Amino acid sequence: MKLKTKLIIAFMIVMIFPIALTTAAIAIMRKPEIVELQQVFLLVVFMTSVLLMYWIYRTVSVPLSKLQKAVRNIKEGNLDFEIHADADDEFGQLCQDFDEMRLRLKANAEEKQETERENKVLISNISHDLKTPVTAIKGYAEGIMDGVADTPEKMDKYIRTIYNKANEMDLLINELTLYAKIDTNRIPYNFTTISAIEYFRDCADDLSIELESKGTKFEFRNYIEEDSKIIVDPEQMRRVINNIISNSIKYMDKPQGKITMNLRDVGDFVQVELGDNARGIAAKDLPYIFDRFFRADSSRNSSKGGSGIGLSIVKKIVEEHGGNIWATSVEGEGTTMYFVVRKYQEVPIQ
Ligand SMILES: Nc1ncnc2c1ncn2[C@@H]1O[C@H](COP(=O)(O)OP(=O)(O)O)[C@@H](O)[C@H]1O
Ligand SMILES: [Mg+2]
Repeated sequence: MKLKTKLIIAFMIVMIFPIALTTAAIAIMRKPEIVELQQVFLLVVFMTSVLLMYWIYRTVSVPLSKLQKAVRNIKEGNLDFEIHADADDEFGQLCQDFDEMRLRLKANAEEKQETERENKVLISNISHDLKTPVTAIKGYAEGIMDGVADTPEKMDKYIRTIYNKANEMDLLINELTLYAKIDTNRIPYNFTTISAIEYFRDCADDLSIELESKGTKFEFRNYIEEDSKIIVDPEQMRRVINNIISNSIKYMDKPQGKITMNLRDVGDFVQVELGDNARGIAAKDLPYIFDRFFRADSSRNSSKGGSGIGLSIVKKIVEEHGGNIWATSVEGEGTTMYFVVRKYQEVPIQ
């Protein structure tokens, strides 16, 4: 039964009772002068009931039809249909809750769209980035098959190029696998409390050997207290440093590469600064370098391989450590990456 029908029936019942009662009273008392009074009384009852029914009808039916309209819109996929709740009763509250639900659905739908868009970009980037080394491998292999590599030197060069290109693909695939794992939180972190200076000095020692062998200058400066401790997953933190340094090497355009590593004490955190004198990042690109799949235009067009996910992995790991990462850069001069790791605070036992 519809709400309207129910209200009409209720109205009839409200009307029938006083009519029946007053008619019965008149019939018993047999006083005709009361008839006029009865008519006034009935009119008042009638008017009151009409107003009452209208009031109930409006407070229930108006928000209900608004809700109905909103539900229909949502069902049809229109999540922009706003529902205005002006009443401060239960129906107003219901409309408000409903609108909140709509906003959440809308946010979810937008997030899903964004993820889909990113996935499409990822697929096209991966295809592009894998295609480049595959094309080179095919070309050099064909060269060998056709006998173009007719001297041992040429043969050596061709095979080396094939090997290097295959390595490039391997790196890219590893980065993607790691990214997929990190993004779905499938990497277990093994946090331990260790001495900050010992840990980062070890990293610096390894970097120094690796970089100096490539002809890149490396300097390490420590400004923190010896006893500062940090909570880190040593393996993942190494990944952060390696990824940042590999960018510095990859985007190096100076004949003499210089990389620096500074450790600073910034209150509750230890700050690590990794600076380079590579080609730098344009101010317009700087805010986006930690976004997944972002590569500055020039790096996308350059022959340097890369998926644009290295720094997004770095950011994710630093954030999982309760830290933060940012960068400053001067185009043509170099870049400095800063990140902070929370210090371990010993709680005194009382
Ligand atoms: N040290 C750096 N010097 C110059 N450009 C950098 C440096 N680090 C990052 N970038 C820029 O930020 C982009 C994103 O870096 P990253 O996420 O590591 O992706 P990828 O190295 O795969 O391109 C790079 O494509 C590059 O344009
Ligand atoms: Mg990178």
